[in-house]
Amino acid sequence: MSSNPAYHNANSPYGSGDPYYSASTGYITPAPMKRRVSNWVKIGVPVLIVVIVAAVLGGVLGSRAHNNNKNASASGAADTSPTGEAAASNAASVKNAIGVYPTATDSLYLLPIYPSTTNTAAFTSPTFNPSSNSALAWPKDPFQPASPSITAVRSDRPRLIAPAYKWQALPALIASDPYLKVWNDTIFGNATAYYNLPVEKYFMDGSSGILDNAREIKMRLKAFAYVYRMTNDTKWVDRAWSEIQNAVSDSFGANNETKWNPSHFLDVGEFTAGFAIAYDWLYDQWTDDQKGTIRSSIITYGLNQGIVAINNTNSQSWGWWYAPSIHGNWNCVSNAGLTMGALAILNDDNSGIAEQILGLTLPSAVAACANGVSSDGSWEETHAYWHFGTTGHAEMSASLISATGSDYGMLDGQQPELRAHRFSTTANANGMFLYGDHFNHPEYILHQRDQHDAPEPNSMFWYDPSVSGAFWDGLPLDHFFDDPLTQWGAMRSSWTDENAAFIAMKAGKLQNHQTHNDLDLGDWVMDAMGARWFGELGSGDYNSEQYFNSDAQNAERWLYYRKRTEGQNALLVNKQNQLVTASPTVAHGTSNTTQGSSTVFTVPSDSTAFWTTDIQSGYDGNTSSYLRGIRFINARKQVLIQDDITSTQPMMWRAHTNATVSVDQSGTSATLTIGTSTLLLQILNPTSDMKISTGPAVRFPDDPATPAISPDQPNPGVTVVMINMDAGTKSLQVLLSPQWPGMSQSDFKTPPAVGLGSWTLTSHDS
Ligand SMILES: *[C@@H]1O[C@H](CO)[C@@H](O)[C@H](O)[C@H]1NC(C)=O
Ligand SMILES: *[C@@H]1O[C@H](CO)[C@@H](O)[C@H](O)[C@H]1NC(C)=O
Ligand SMILES: *[C@@H]1O[C@H](CO)[C@@H](O)[C@H](O)[C@H]1NC(C)=O
Ligand SMILES: *[C@@H]1O[C@H](CO)[C@@H](O)[C@H](O)[C@H]1NC(C)=O
Ligand SMILES: *[C@@H]1O[C@H](CO)[C@@H](O)[C@H](O)[C@H]1NC(C)=O
Ligand SMILES: *[C@@H]1O[C@H](CO)[C@@H](O)[C@H](O)[C@H]1NC(C)=O
Ligand SMILES: *[C@@H]1O[C@H](CO)[C@@H](O)[C@H](O)[C@H]1NC(C)=O
Ligand SMILES: *[C@@H]1O[C@H](CO)[C@@H](O)[C@H](O)[C@H]1NC(C)=O
Ligand SMILES: *[C@@H]1O[C@H](CO)[C@@H](O)[C@H](O)[C@H]1NC(C)=O
Repeated sequence: MSSNPAYHNANSPYGSGDPYYSASTGYITPAPMKRRVSNWVKIGVPVLIVVIVAAVLGGVLGSRAHNNNKNASASGAADTSPTGEAAASNAASVKNAIGVYPTATDSLYLLPIYPSTTNTAAFTSPTFNPSSNSALAWPKDPFQPASPSITAVRSDRPRLIAPAYKWQALPALIASDPYLKVWNDTIFGNATAYYNLPVEKYFMDGSSGILDNAREIKMRLKAFAYVYRMTNDTKWVDRAWSEIQNAVSDSFGANNETKWNPSHFLDVGEFTAGFAIAYDWLYDQWTDDQKGTIRSSIITYGLNQGIVAINNTNSQSWGWWYAPSIHGNWNCVSNAGLTMGALAILNDDNSGIAEQILGLTLPSAVAACANGVSSDGSWEETHAYWHFGTTGHAEMSASLISATGSDYGMLDGQQPELRAHRFSTTANANGMFLYGDHFNHPEYILHQRDQHDAPEPNSMFWYDPSVSGAFWDGLPLDHFFDDPLTQWGAMRSSWTDENAAFIAMKAGKLQNHQTHNDLDLGDWVMDAMGARWFGELGSGDYNSEQYFNSDAQNAERWLYYRKRTEGQNALLVNKQNQLVTASPTVAHGTSNTTQGSSTVFTVPSDSTAFWTTDIQSGYDGNTSSYLRGIRFINARKQVLIQDDITSTQPMMWRAHTNATVSVDQSGTSATLTIGTSTLLLQILNPTSDMKISTGPAVRFPDDPATPAISPDQPNPGVTVVMINMDAGTKSLQVLLSPQWPGMSQSDFKTPPAVGLGSWTLTSHDS
């Protein structure tokens, strides 16, 4: 855990701490819930992050038509025409009668739990502005500049994210929308809890810097400002002021202009964003002195540090994140904070620094941050970063739109990648409200509003209450992500049953992920019966020596068990790591099954999906061909994983599980147990060399050593299921049969042997 530069280069591009590392838990945790270990992030750094009800949508290109189609009258919810009033009251009573869809949140996975019910009034196709609630929309923004300019800000306050007209409309919308009501209550509750806490205590967390401090203070300032504006009670302004004074006091960090820790620029980004919102949302409440203090703090500790950083963007300097190649969270969060700080103080400060910053941050963010998504909607630096990266991107975009009337291509520029902002995988980040609205995807909004992290001030203003329907209605169960950088497939048996089956497998290139990936071609996960049967170990210790420095074949990163191929659910040849130069190809098929309007879904008997990949290029010259595939059989109740491989060296299939594993005497099948559920694992058509064994999730004794200072993290409770095979041409078929309640022995199927190259939707019907 050393922050000694000898072991960890604090200035390295990817090295100086990542946003999610938490020294206290050892896990990465998502914003804004940094105190909680969310499951999808815990399993996170590998590309394969999947939870049972993860919304994997995508496929439809965004369009701008939506905003033009909407017909919210200028008076919106406050419409006083008899028709408007009657319609609003009618629509409000319908929405309030339906209420919030989920009945609870799963305590382990933090997933919404849906009632088992059909509700024809509510669970209809996702749409905006149906006639039944057209009067319950946001009014149109009165600020519509004909030729927007980044330095021509609206004349009224607030400028950032939530202009005055939205605050005026909000109480009526809260009264008519059950989601807004719950979120408003939660934000008030959270703000009250923060109110009663002491001001945030300074804590320098090794290579993660003071990012935790910055995010906590930003979260509090937003909540205090929100509650003040909803109550006019100045005690919230006073509490915000205490937090501000603390974060600029002599004893908080360095007593000079590096107070907000610009060597780890994410910290500056988050502090500056928090101060910008406090300055702007509480503008009319601050005295001139207070305004002056906040403004000079934004300039001294934020914008000036931005100028210094951007002046030197080489990989060893503070400004490395500014380079156009840095697609991802660092570019998004750093540029967003600087942009928000500049927009907040523009015209109140005549030094020119705000204008100068805006001229620098926008081009960088459009070129880099906005390309954090690959063309299929996955996140280049792996899915765990979708949350942090998109939050920076969404706050910057929303601030530009509200303050100046345009997003300047942040949302939909010329590159196809930009349109792909629509989605990622476990895309529960509140930016989805903004994206769903902008790209005309009501299902994004309907999905996100049920997620545990939805209650947050941004959501109050990004959520479009004219949305209606159920996200799952008509939604395909399968989705395939085909960008060569981020290929993966996601297949499931329901969108609304937390006990559903879910499988996913990945390929994708092993470089150019901002050094956040693993050597994990063919890695897969499986959920069923409310449990994760095969999963990921997640990130290692972010302070490990040279953990982020390189993704070359000989990089130290690949010494660590959680990053090595043996630490994945993958196949090893001769116990070697996969080759970083791999260039996999994929193939897939789906019955195109979509869920209907009910939360109760019965999978049709011919419903299936498969995903295969050629990953021979990830192995050395001893392996002359290698295809891996995964599929559902038996109406998505069973799963087949298959490896068709020819190699001159011995091979080992490995998969990591939390289950208790009992291998039968033949060595060709095993029973896995989690809680009261069991899953049968069987090798189909085994050759005599194929034998199952189990072991702990630790490195091989003959692996090259990690640096002595950076041992592997323990993986308590995890067992590796191994199947050893001799050299030769092999087809290893592993059938996974969850013992679903109510299924009898005769309900399970044993599929025929079919070479991976011949897999089709019907190839396994027997
Ligand atoms: C928009 O709403 C107004 C007022 O209700 C109505 O007169 C107009 O026809 C609507 N326009 C469209 C395109 O629906
Ligand atoms: C927001 O929530 C608070 C706390 O529950 C409540 O007192 C207030 O009335 C709510 N605001 C609106 C507009 O409903
Ligand atoms: C906000 O309040 C909700 C409901 O009490 C709670 O679950 C959540 O953890 C709180 N969030 C934070 C960041 O404190
Ligand atoms: C707070 O004050 C503003 C401006 O005077 C006013 O429009 C708003 O209705 C007040 N809100 C509450 C909850 O009193
Ligand atoms: C700021 O203060 C820190 C801590 O005292 C010190 O290490 C650093 O050199 C100072 N930086 C400048 C620019 O004065
Ligand atoms: C920018 O870099 C140059 C060359 O290193 C240096 O002379 C100059 O002072 C720097 N400017 C700022 C604002 O840091
Ligand atoms: C073990 O369970 C945890 C919690 O559900 C999960 O995050 C993790 O991925 C599981 N690990 C494996 C190897 O399945
Ligand atoms: C599924 O949809 C895709 C895309 O429209 C189509 O190409 C394919 O033929 C469909 N497959 C089936 C089995 O209907
Ligand atoms: C075959 O594997 C051995 C042992 O891992 C390795 O030394 C050798 O270079 C490989 N041969 C080829 C042609 O890649």
